[in-house]
Amino acid sequence: MNPRFELAHLAHAELLTPNMEGTLWFFTELLGMREVARQGDSVYLRCYEDPYHHSLKVTAADAPGLANLGWRTTSADALERRADALDRAGLGRGWTKGDLGVGRTFAFESPDGHPMELVWDVEKYLAPPELRSPILTRRSKRPLQGLPPRRLDHVNLMASDVTVQKEMFEQTLGFGTRERVVDVAGGGTEIGAWMSVNILGHEMAIMADSTGSRGRLHHLAFWYGVPQHNTDAAELCREYGVQIEAGPDIHGITQGAFLYVFEPGGNRIELFGNSGILELEPDFETVTWDLADFDTGIAIGGATLPAETYFVYGTPPVAGQESLITASEIGTRVAATVA
Ligand SMILES: [Fe+2]
Repeated sequence: MNPRFELAHLAHAELLTPNMEGTLWFFTELLGMREVARQGDSVYLRCYEDPYHHSLKVTAADAPGLANLGWRTTSADALERRADALDRAGLGRGWTKGDLGVGRTFAFESPDGHPMELVWDVEKYLAPPELRSPILTRRSKRPLQGLPPRRLDHVNLMASDVTVQKEMFEQTLGFGTRERVVDVAGGGTEIGAWMSVNILGHEMAIMADSTGSRGRLHHLAFWYGVPQHNTDAAELCREYGVQIEAGPDIHGITQGAFLYVFEPGGNRIELFGNSGILELEPDFETVTWDLADFDTGIAIGGATLPAETYFVYGTPPVAGQESLITASEIGTRVAATVA
C-alpha cells in the first residue's frame, strides 16, 4: 500500500537536559509554555494551541539531546500498517504502553538511530475551566507570560547519510520531500532534505552531520505567528542572556522565518515566525538547490548561519563542542534570579 498520508503530523518530542532548572525557565518563563505534569525525572509541557496532553517532555540527563519523537498516524489501521513496514525495514523496536497522555505506541529508530514512535491513541487536551478560551478553536487561553509560541512545529535532524535517511522516511512512512540541497560539484551528494507528511512545507528536515556522528538533533522548532515575533524574541533573548545563534531572517528553503537560540540545557531551539510555504499540490515535484548557489536558500535577508556552530553543533555535542554554547551557565543564573 502507498504509505502517503498514513502519518498525520508531529505530535510530541522529548528533549534531554543536563540543566533542568535552566531548561524549564526557558520553556515556561521565556517561551510561555505551560507545565501539565511531572513524573520521575520528566516535566511535561504544552503550547496553548497544542492539541494533545503535551507536546514537549523534558527529562533530566547527563547531556542534551533528543530522547523521542512521536508521529501521530491518520488512523488505528495506519498505525498497524506502518509498524509492519518498519519491522520489515529492520527499524522496529516493538510496542510500548505509552506515556502520560499517550496510548500504545510503536517504537522505532531512524536509520541513523534517532529514537521515534508512532501513535494513534492520544489524550486530547481539555483545559480546566479557568484556562478555557472563548475562541473555541483554541485549546487553552493564550498565556500572559512569555512569547508565547502556539504549537510544536517541526524537527531538524542531523544524519551521517542524508539520502539513506530520506529514502526510508519516503518509502516506509510516506514523507514527501519538498526541497533538498545537493552538492553538484562534489558529485551530487545530498546534504539536506526538507520533508512533510501533510501540507506544511516541512515537519522534518535532515541535514548532513559533518562531524560524522550519528543520530543527533539539530533543532526543535515552535510556531508562533509572524516574523515580527522573532524580532521581539531576539530582544528578550538578549536581555535575559539566552545565546542567539542566527536570525531573525527568512530562509529561502521552506520560506520559514527563523530565530535560532540555545536553551540553557544546550539544545538548539528554533522560533518559527511564519508558516513557510504550504504544499497543496498532490503531485508536487521536489525542488533541488545547488550547494554552490545557496545563499538565497540559507537566508533571503542575508543573515549568516555561523559555520563554527550551525553546521557542526548538534545534541548530544561531540567532544569539545560544549564550549560553543554559553547559554547553560547564563540560563542557570537567570533562573536563580527569577526564582
Ligand atoms: Fe527549522
